[in-house]
Amino acid sequence: MDKIVVAGGQPLSGSIATSGAKNAALPIVIATLLAPGEHRLTNLPELVDVSSTLSLLGRIGCPSLLGESSTRIDTSRIAFSEAPYDVVRKMRASVLVLGPLLARHGECKVSLPGGCAIGVRPIDQHLKGLEALGARFELSGGYVHGYADGLVGAEIQLDMPTVTGTENILMAATLAEGTSVIHNAAREPEIVDLASFLRSLGADIQGDGTATITVHGVPRLTPASRPYRILPDRIEAGTYLCAAAVAGGEVTVTDVNPQDLLPVVMKLREAGCSVEIGDHEVTCRRDGPLQAIHVDTQPHPGFPTDMQAQLMAVAAIARGTSQFRENIFENRYMHAAEMLRMGARIDVQGRVATVTGVERLTGAQVMASDLRASAALVLSGLAAEGITEVLRIYHLDRGYENLVGKLRGVGAHVGRVSDDVTDRAALQRAAVAAG
Ligand code: EPZ
Repeated sequence: MDKIVVAGGQPLSGSIATSGAKNAALPIVIATLLAPGEHRLTNLPELVDVSSTLSLLGRIGCPSLLGESSTRIDTSRIAFSEAPYDVVRKMRASVLVLGPLLARHGECKVSLPGGCAIGVRPIDQHLKGLEALGARFELSGGYVHGYADGLVGAEIQLDMPTVTGTENILMAATLAEGTSVIHNAAREPEIVDLASFLRSLGADIQGDGTATITVHGVPRLTPASRPYRILPDRIEAGTYLCAAAVAGGEVTVTDVNPQDLLPVVMKLREAGCSVEIGDHEVTCRRDGPLQAIHVDTQPHPGFPTDMQAQLMAVAAIARGTSQFRENIFENRYMHAAEMLRMGARIDVQGRVATVTGVERLTGAQVMASDLRASAALVLSGLAAEGITEVLRIYHLDRGYENLVGKLRGVGAHVGRVSDDVTDRAALQRAAVAAG
């Protein structure tokens, strides 16, 4: 296994090209199941979760081919309609095959996702919405067996604006007979990107991006005539803006939709950074002291939970006391315990974390626990004195394309080595060598 090594204290300077969004790519790859034929996608990020999703489609009978400029997926035939435990336990988003398989194939068998580091992650809303469309489910042996002989449009009221729950129901509704209305729908940009992709297949959808989505079902969907470009990743981009805030200096993220980043931009300004917005890029500059902030995670357009850990890395070295409230997931402060090892002062009481800024962090060995916590620990390493080693970075590989290369490109002293390298000089060389 590898680890990331960071030699802190190096201000950043330069620009980083944003990759395609993981949380748009996963539902869009799976949505190809709704339309038999050959699909072409561009700007698909090279991530473990994306390759896991493509291999899941391969097991279902839909092979893919990664080309230079686009990825082709052939969904002409569905040979197998199961998402097995060994796939779903590693990637919860696999449950998104429920809607498309029921809509197109009338049957599916999907492992319940189980929990993960950040919470229980139930799918009751997914099942409730699909049942409203006429699906029937049996739970046995840790699996959900779904059946549907033709879906029928319905009014669906979600108990909370679940992102993948909205996506599962939206995909199924595109082929249901009649009209469906999803109330209290999630409003994330990734939902809008999925709806745009579905419209390119011939779906009739209005209201995506608002809390009420209306779908007029159509008899069939067909692959788009042109390749579909995946939306830029606002969370990846926000992570690199936070890198500039933590390390000091200036970073421009390019190929982004700035309006998708507004909650993060406003928070970084509150922290004392100067953030400029262009047409498709955002620049964050920090050359003075950071100020304490208040972060309250909410569904979009509120502050995104996927950026909470990264802003905690900013708060850890800000002047004053910052307050975080994590309203979305019940256990999303795993990074706090690791930051304490680096000298941060963080007190977690349930969903509230109080962070008292310190002058300087010190490098340490720290353990990644989930995707965004791992990124936050690398950011903390950028501001720490000495060497920081972030272990278990397979979490990172799930959602950040070439993080070490992108950070090196703006002057960070960051490297990737096998986790059995312990010699300090070797670790220092690994961090600085390509910097
Ligand atoms: C999506 O997860 C994202 N993943 C997550 O990103 C993101 O953190 C989350 O939305 C919130 O924005 C993908 O899009 C693949 P939810 P999802 O359903 O859909 C509860 C990352 O780091 N809930 O919106 O699983 C749930 O427990 C990942 O990229 C139910 O109770 O999140 C949570 O408390 C992490 N019943 C809340 O809703 C359900 O049926 C929001 O979860 C569904 C959800």
